[in-house]
Amino acid sequence: MVKVITYGTFDLFHQGHINLLERAKQLGDYLIVGVTTEHFDEARGKINVVDSCLERVENVRKTGLADEIIIEDHDGQKIEDIQKYKIDIFTLGSDWEGSFDYLKAFCKVVYLERTPNISSTGLRSDRYQIVRLGIVGTGRIARRFMAEEKYVSGMNTICAYNPERESGEEFRERYNLELYCEDYDEFLQAVDAVYIASPNENHYDYARRAIVSGKHVLCENPLALTRQRAEELFTLAEERDVVVLEGIKTAYCPGFQQLINVARSGQIGEIRDIEACFTSLANHQMREMTDVEYGGAFLEYAVDTLLPILKLYGTDYRDIQIHSINREDGLDLYTKIDLIYDQGMATAKCGIGVKTEGQLVISGSQGYILAESPWWLTRKFKIRYEDPNRVETFEPKFQGDGLRYEMSEFVAQINKSNKNGYLLTRGEIIAMSEITEIFMKNRQRQRGR
Ligand code: CTP
Repeated sequence: MVKVITYGTFDLFHQGHINLLERAKQLGDYLIVGVTTEHFDEARGKINVVDSCLERVENVRKTGLADEIIIEDHDGQKIEDIQKYKIDIFTLGSDWEGSFDYLKAFCKVVYLERTPNISSTGLRSDRYQIVRLGIVGTGRIARRFMAEEKYVSGMNTICAYNPERESGEEFRERYNLELYCEDYDEFLQAVDAVYIASPNENHYDYARRAIVSGKHVLCENPLALTRQRAEELFTLAEERDVVVLEGIKTAYCPGFQQLINVARSGQIGEIRDIEACFTSLANHQMREMTDVEYGGAFLEYAVDTLLPILKLYGTDYRDIQIHSINREDGLDLYTKIDLIYDQGMATAKCGIGVKTEGQLVISGSQGYILAESPWWLTRKFKIRYEDPNRVETFEPKFQGDGLRYEMSEFVAQINKSNKNGYLLTRGEIIAMSEITEIFMKNRQRQRGR
């Protein structure tokens, strides 16, 4: 009996897939089809797959061509499978010509002719119109965004807005954008969605105007500096059926989701304490150091450090205390936020003028989770127990600088194809704005003294 194996994502199942499976089947007597998991696809940089793994398996099954379907979830698996299933022929479409020649050491490798003019990528973009995105602000964060945006399909940055013509024009040229606008209303006319990367104090206003004009909004944090403003933005967005998302990169990173879910699964017992710390010594010329009103450690890092706390304990804290070490002019160099909940306590620490270990420690009744700096990217974390010899290490997949996950979620929400509305909820964003409001009011009072 000649055994044949082939692999694929098989997203938005199409005629090209059927033809390939038919040809593969004809190569032998028994066909095994490997279907990729979501995580594996994500790790390979395919982050916009529409159908779930189960749906994709079901579509392959329905053809009746596969004698057996298996799941592909890690690199190196093909060699394992070929040996395990005693495979005679490995086959894939001709778009992979040459890529799997290393398997010739284990079996025959055949590249089958690919069906022209059809692909999952093409179907995804036919189904979902490409989102025409405009970027507000052309500074440091905007440049980071541009470096990552090419990895996310389904959106295209076409326009930049900056009231300062020179830097706006320079940005447009550097990234070869179609347009630059000096006027915000004109800018909004040209796009479907905006990414707001302006200075903190303008976020709310730009977001509000965009939502009112029916544009989707991805806004760098902090989205709003008061609870009422955050609520207002969500209400307006709901009325106009547009997406509003706060840009907290960590929330969308796959490793962070895994860490949170491991913590929630009870592996460390009852969670009793969370300590999240993020410090980075800022250059004295940087906005976070020069802007006494909207710079400082809290506004720079508080939402990142609050994120794991709100995720794990919820938004219903019993007490909150915020203490800062301020520079003479009142700018906070280091801020500690202590939160008390019924089930446990938490501390969020942020610094731009004090340096310390930037770690996330989640302590439970059976053990603790430790994610070392940069835990906000969550490339690695550990569980430790009373027995020092027992350590479990997790190394989730992580691509680029992480921003692509946030963008991909934004596009998915716009297309209503997302399955991840829970990654950062409206309630969590509103709670962050509420805590920001408390911080700013405290500071106001202290300054008034
Ligand atoms: N395939 C094919 N002809 C096509 C499209 C795909 O023969 N027109 C083959 C691929 O070469 C591969 C298998 O079908 O062997 C599964 O491919 P997959 O990557 O799932 O499909 P694509 O449509 O190529 O997906 P994408 O656009 O996301 O890369």
